[in-house]
Amino acid sequence: MDLNDNNREKIEADLLIEAVKRYYGYDFSNYSKAHIKRRMSVFLSKHRYESISEMQHYVLHNPNIFEDFLNNFSINVTEMFRDPGFYKDFRESVIPILKTYPYLKIWIAGCATGEEVYSFAIMLQEEGLLARSTIYATDFNSKALQKAGKAIYNIDTIKSYTSNYQKSGGKSSFSDYYMANYNSVIINKSLKENVVFAEHNLVTDGVFTEANLIVCRNVLIYFDRDLQDKVLALFNNSLIQGGYLALGTKETIQFSEINSKFSTISKENKIYKKTSI
Ligand SMILES: C[S@@+](CC[C@H](N)C(=O)[O-])C[C@H]1O[C@@H](n2cnc3c(N)ncnc32)[C@H](O)[C@@H]1O
Repeated sequence: MDLNDNNREKIEADLLIEAVKRYYGYDFSNYSKAHIKRRMSVFLSKHRYESISEMQHYVLHNPNIFEDFLNNFSINVTEMFRDPGFYKDFRESVIPILKTYPYLKIWIAGCATGEEVYSFAIMLQEEGLLARSTIYATDFNSKALQKAGKAIYNIDTIKSYTSNYQKSGGKSSFSDYYMANYNSVIINKSLKENVVFAEHNLVTDGVFTEANLIVCRNVLIYFDRDLQDKVLALFNNSLIQGGYLALGTKETIQFSEINSKFSTISKENKIYKKTSI
């Protein structure tokens, strides 16, 4: 069944979102309309439900189906050194300033299965900053976080990750950072030592830490404007003055209330510095 704009399906979708919020505490009501519609449609086809109302029954009565529903809503697509130009830019424009700090608290929000976290750990190590950093890596998807903590990835990804790493301005050989084992690679343990993985929901949970740097890429795109604004306010409140906010190529703070408190470090990669409280 394909979702169309008809009124009945909109009502059913709204009721399901409300039911999930009330029963499980996950609030998707301010995710973008396009994202909700697409994910419901994919879930409906996957489980061959006749209608969203039928889907609601199973989502509410079967925790395993709900877990699948949650995974379906949370797109975990990610890569190591995704958008290598972002890392190159970050190395050149932000790292020299971070080098002047005695200690760094970094929050990577929406870290999915951890590839972005280990990319940052590698970059920080190469720049002599990892030992004095704590990276708090969060996501609301516990399954993704479990995978992130294991740091085991499919060997088929390594070719493209190596290419990303080289384009990102990597200073070593990418193979120095993992051990290959049959079909998988395991990221070096030393890169995990300063990383804390934790569950945090950007919609319902509060300020996370007093960070020097917040990285949140490819997450806000799934939210509507109001929710983006709310989450950006959360980031503003979680950053010290002089701290950096890195959103990546797709997102921006331009429309939001926090815009006036930040100066732009990179227009292309949406890296901002908090200049006033
Ligand atoms: C497409 S991935 C982005 C991963 C990584 N940041 C990157 O750019 O490669 C989006 C991630 O945002 C997470 N996410 C979505 N809604 C969230 C929320 N309300 N709170 C925390 N994480 C959320 C998803 O679980 C998913 O892991």
